[in-house]
Amino acid sequence: SAPVRVALLGCGTVGSEIVRLLAEQADDLAARVGAPVELAGVAVRRPHRHPELPSELVTTDAHALVTREDVDVVVEVIGGIEPARTLLLEALKAGKSAITANKALLAEDGATLAEAADASGADLYYEASVAGAIPLLRPLRESLAGDRITRVAGIVNGTTNYILSAMTVSGASYADALEQATRLGYAEADPSADVDGYDAASKAAILASLAFHTRVTAADVHCEGIRAVTAADIAAADVLGCTIKLLAICERIPGSDDGDPESVSARVYPAMIPASHPLAAVDGAFNAVFVEADAAGQLMFYGQGAGGAPTASAVLGDLVAVARNRVIGGRGPRDSSYASLPVRSIGGV
Ligand code: HSE
Repeated sequence: SAPVRVALLGCGTVGSEIVRLLAEQADDLAARVGAPVELAGVAVRRPHRHPELPSELVTTDAHALVTREDVDVVVEVIGGIEPARTLLLEALKAGKSAITANKALLAEDGATLAEAADASGADLYYEASVAGAIPLLRPLRESLAGDRITRVAGIVNGTTNYILSAMTVSGASYADALEQATRLGYAEADPSADVDGYDAASKAAILASLAFHTRVTAADVHCEGIRAVTAADIAAADVLGCTIKLLAICERIPGSDDGDPESVSARVYPAMIPASHPLAAVDGAFNAVFVEADAAGQLMFYGQGAGGAPTASAVLGDLVAVARNRVIGGRGPRDSSYASLPVRSIGGV
C-alpha cells in the first residue's frame, strides 16, 4: 500500500521521542500497518533548536502542514489550547486522522474535536493524554464498551506523585523534588498545572467522559493540588500508617428515590491512603488507575504515567491504529456522549 504520511506538530520532550521511535521501528511499523509510516513534516516554533531533524522536514508553518495534500495523519504534541485546537480542527476538516496528547484541550473542548471528527469521518485518538504509557483509554473506549463502568479512580499525575514520593521516601524538599521532576521531563511547561491539580483534573474529565458516555469538562472537576502539603503532613500521615497521594476520582452516582437523576462526580485532591493499599506503593512518576464495571468487576492499570518515551509509546500505538484504519478504509471508535448525565461537584473525601 501507499505510505501513510504523518505531520508532527511540536518536537519537545514527547515529539522528539516520536521522531526517534518512528525511525527506529520503521520496519516493524510498516509490517503492523501494512504500509510504510513516514514523517511528512515537523512543525516547530524555533527550527534552529532542532539540528537533529532533517531540514527538509522542518517548518514553522503548522497551518500549511496540517492541510497539505500529502499528509494523512496529524500528531499534535504542542499542548495548550491554541494554536493546537485550530490546527486539529483544520486537520480533521481536511479529512486527516488526528492524534493528540493534549489533555488540557480535550478536557476543555473535546466535544468540538469529536464533532469535527464525526463530520468528516476521520479518526481522533488520544491515548497519550491520560496516564502516559498505560493503555487506559482504549480499554474504556473499546474493551469495556459492552459493560457499565461505575468508577475510575487513581493516580494520574506523574509529577505530583514523584514529588510526594521523594518527600516521603528520601525526605526531599518540595522545591528540590519539583526541580527534579521538571528535569526528568515529567512536569508540564508550566508546572503549576501539575502541582495545583489542573493536569489531573483535565485527565479526570477525559476519563469520566469516556467511562460514563457523557461530557465532563475540566471546569466540572473539583480540584485541590499538593502545594499546601508539607513535610509535617507527610510525617503525620506516616504516624497513622498512611501515605499522601494526589487522587483523581470519577464516579457514577445512582439516582435517588426522591427523583434525583443519575449523575457523575469527578474530583482531584490529596488523600491519605493506608500504607497497605496498592496505590500507596505507586512511586515516582508511575500512575495507577482502578476501574470498576458491573460485569468486569475491578481492574487495575499501572505503569509510567509521564515522560517522553512512555508518552511517545502511547502516541505510536495510536498511530498504528489510525494508519491501519486508513489502509483498510475503516474508522476507530467514536466518542458516544449520549448519556448527558448531570455533573455534581463534590469536595474531597
Ligand atoms: N505533567 C504530566 C504528569 C505529564 O506529570 O503526569 C503526563 O501527562
